[in-house]
Amino acid sequence: MPRVSVAAEARSYNVWIESGLLGRAGTLLRRILPHSRRVFVVATPQVNKLCGKELTASLANAGYQYRTLVMPDGERHKRLDTLERLAEQMIAHGGDRDALVVALGGGVTGDVAGMLASVFMRGVDLVQAPTTLLAQVDASVGGKTGVNLKSGKNLLGTFYPPRAVLIDPSVLATLPAREFRAGLYEVVKCGVIGNPALFRMFETRLKQILQRDARTLEKLILESVRLKARIVEEDEREQGMRRWLNFGHTIGHALEAETGYRRLLHGEAVGWGMLAAARIAKSMGMLRGDDAGRIHAGVLGLGGLPGVRVKPGNILKRIQSDKKTRGGKAHFVLPSEIGRVEVVTGVPDGIILKAVEELNELSRKAGGVG
Ligand SMILES: NC(=O)c1ccc[n+]([C@@H]2O[C@H](COP(=O)([O-])OP(=O)(O)OC[C@H]3O[C@@H](n4cnc5c(N)ncnc54)[C@H](O)[C@@H]3O)[C@@H](O)[C@H]2O)c1
Ligand SMILES: [Zn+2]
Repeated sequence: MPRVSVAAEARSYNVWIESGLLGRAGTLLRRILPHSRRVFVVATPQVNKLCGKELTASLANAGYQYRTLVMPDGERHKRLDTLERLAEQMIAHGGDRDALVVALGGGVTGDVAGMLASVFMRGVDLVQAPTTLLAQVDASVGGKTGVNLKSGKNLLGTFYPPRAVLIDPSVLATLPAREFRAGLYEVVKCGVIGNPALFRMFETRLKQILQRDARTLEKLILESVRLKARIVEEDEREQGMRRWLNFGHTIGHALEAETGYRRLLHGEAVGWGMLAAARIAKSMGMLRGDDAGRIHAGVLGLGGLPGVRVKPGNILKRIQSDKKTRGGKAHFVLPSEIGRVEVVTGVPDGIILKAVEELNELSRKAGGVG
C-alpha cells in the first residue's frame, strides 16, 4: 500500500493511502497500535452516515471497543465548547489515558478531534482519517490542530502529530463538486511550490481529475502528501520552508476575511490568491510570462471559481494586519518558476493593488459570477 512516512519531533508516523482503506482500518490499527484500546471515532452526522459504518465495522472486526462521538458540522462549530462537550462524552463512556481518538471527517473534524486528543488527559493517541480532499492533501498531515476564537481563526491550538493518517480516496466520490474543487486548488498549490510533474497533471489529465478517477486521485494525493511531509519534516514549527505552503494564502486569507467567510471556501480563496501571486511575481520580474500563464490556466481550468468584488485598498489593509505579518511587513510566497517559490518581503503596495484589481476584472469577465 502506498505510504509516506513523516518524521515529526515528537514521533514519526505513516500516512497510508489506498482506496477502500477505511474498511481495513481495524486490522491496520491493530498492527500499528497493538495494545487494546477504547476507540472514540469523532465525526459529523453527515460523514458518520456516509462512511462511519465502514470504519466502525472494521474496528469491531479487529476486536476494538468503539464509540462514535458526533459533533455538529461546519466551521462555526470549530470551537472550544465543541471540544469540551466531546471530552465530557469521552469521560462518560470510559475514556482514559489509553483512549484512541480517530478523527473521521474534513479539516474541521480533524482540527477539533486532533486538539481534543492532544489535551485529553494531557494527550492520548490520535489517528486522522480525512474524508475531504482538502483534509487528505493538507489538514491531516503536519500535526497542527486547533479551534477558532471569536477574535479569529485557529487562535487556539497545538502541534500534535497523529499515530497514523488513513487516507481512503474512495470516500471522495460523495464530496460536493465545490468542496472537491476547493481541495484541488491546494493540490495545484503543491505543484507550484515544489512539484512540476504534479502541476503538469492538471494540464494533461484534467478530465480524469475532474471525473475523480480513482488512480489519478491516488496519485494526486500521494504527491501532495509527499511534498507536505517533506516540508513539515524540515520545518515543523513554521519558521522557514513551511511558509511555502502559504503560497496563495496571503491574498487568499484577506479575501476570505473581506467577504465575511461566506462567499468563498478556503480553497477557492487560495485559488484567487494564487492568481494574484502569479501576477505579482510577474510584475516583480521574478516569473516568466508563460509560467504565469500556466498558473492562470491551471487555476481557472478547474472551473467554478466564485467571482469576487473587493476594494483593493481593503485587501491591502488586511494583508498588513495579518497575524503572519511580522514587523509590519507582509510576506508573499512568490513563484520564480513552476516548482520553485521564494518568500519575498517588501512587495510595493502598487503592485498588490493592481493584482487585486485584476482579480475583480477577471470576475467581471467570467460573466456575472461576481
Ligand atoms: N491543521 C491544518 O494543518 C489545516 C490545514 C488546512 C486547513 N485546515 C482547516 O480545515 C478546515 C477546512 O476543512 P474542510 O475543507 O475539509 O472543511 P469541512 O471539514 O467543513 O468539510 C467540508 C464539508 O464536507 C462534508 N464532507 C466531509 N467529507 C465528506 C465526504 N466524503 N462526502 C461528502 N461530504 C463530506 C462535511 O460534512 C462538510 O460539510 C478549516 O477549519 C481549516 O482551518 C487545517
Ligand atoms: Zn490552505
